[in-house]
Amino acid sequence: MYSATCEAPVNMALVKYWGKRNEELILPINDSISMTLDANEMSAKTTVAASESFKQNRMWLNGEVVPFEDNARLMRCLEGVQRLALANGGLKFPLSWKLHIASYNNFPTAAGLASSAAGYACLVYTLARLYEIPMNEQLTTIARQGSGSACRSLHGGFVQWHRGIADDGSDSIAEQLVTAEHWPNMHMLILVVNDARKKTGSTKGMQSAVETSTLIQHRATTIVPQRIKELRTAIQARDFKTFAELTMRDSNQLHAIALDTYPPCVYMNEVSHAIVNFVHDYNESVGEVKAAYTFDAGPNGCLYVLAENVAPLLAAIQVAFPNDAQQSVEYLKGIPVPPVELKKMATNGIAEHVNPKNLLKYIIHTKIGDGPRQLSDE
Ligand code: DP6
Repeated sequence: MYSATCEAPVNMALVKYWGKRNEELILPINDSISMTLDANEMSAKTTVAASESFKQNRMWLNGEVVPFEDNARLMRCLEGVQRLALANGGLKFPLSWKLHIASYNNFPTAAGLASSAAGYACLVYTLARLYEIPMNEQLTTIARQGSGSACRSLHGGFVQWHRGIADDGSDSIAEQLVTAEHWPNMHMLILVVNDARKKTGSTKGMQSAVETSTLIQHRATTIVPQRIKELRTAIQARDFKTFAELTMRDSNQLHAIALDTYPPCVYMNEVSHAIVNFVHDYNESVGEVKAAYTFDAGPNGCLYVLAENVAPLLAAIQVAFPNDAQQSVEYLKGIPVPPVELKKMATNGIAEHVNPKNLLKYIIHTKIGDGPRQLSDE
């Protein structure tokens, strides 16, 4: 029996991937850039075991059995890694050996936070370790076929997924722009929003956007290429102001495209919009851009903020969204919120946002992180 256990991080996009030019190979219509998050807070952990005695391929996700061989995306990843292993000089055990795969997320699935990126990145990385394939860019083309955004979770720091031009997807790879050490004080607060409504998943949402939105092609061909250039420069220069503006504009544009889809996809709710207004007012009230929001295909707000600005921002959040104050404590991981900051925020206009409807479930505090790593093997 052979086995490998690895951990892979979640990533959060700054310039969003939204729309495919090939559904099966998962090829995007535009480049995207993301930041990889620290695996200590949020990650997927996967063990893959191969044995002569296993009767069939089996998979468990968070302890529950999930389909294996009828999951086309999973099979595509497995076959991709096996093909690469054969090309890399053979296998240390026969391909006929069946696999058992167990995967866990270390963050609450109830938070509605996308786990597929970390999950597929972890699956592909762990299979690569099992078959002794060194980390290389081809692995990102395989993870991409599990879930598009997964390819970016194979690197740490800031990562660009290139749309590529080849029909077979061979140049649609994820590239690391800078490591986490380049901007180590880049933190994130994830404001998990209470939400009961059922949402259209990303896969369906972007498919119907490509079919019906009259704005999406303009975004893909004209806006994003320029935005990618500017964001790369801002990241290189650690220019938070430009970084923040580009990020917020791109999140807003993703949701504009979602609304331009017919019928429209509504991902943000009232609390999400309160978060947007709060961030703009906060930046204005402190006289400097200190926070940037981004929203994926759901209502949760992800705020980019530098480490030194986390405590005052949290203080302001707790004034603006008072209902979460108690519940969030356990997620704050010991960050002190000075009472004096709380008072200051309450008197400088932020308190206007106090609204009993502004319910947050809780806050996750995390930061930029590294790529996947192996935890053990046999
Ligand atoms: C809004 O990667 O989940 O998070 O490729 O169909 O699996 P599939 O979609 P997925 O879409 C992610 C969309 C997004 C933006 C992003 O991460 O870039």
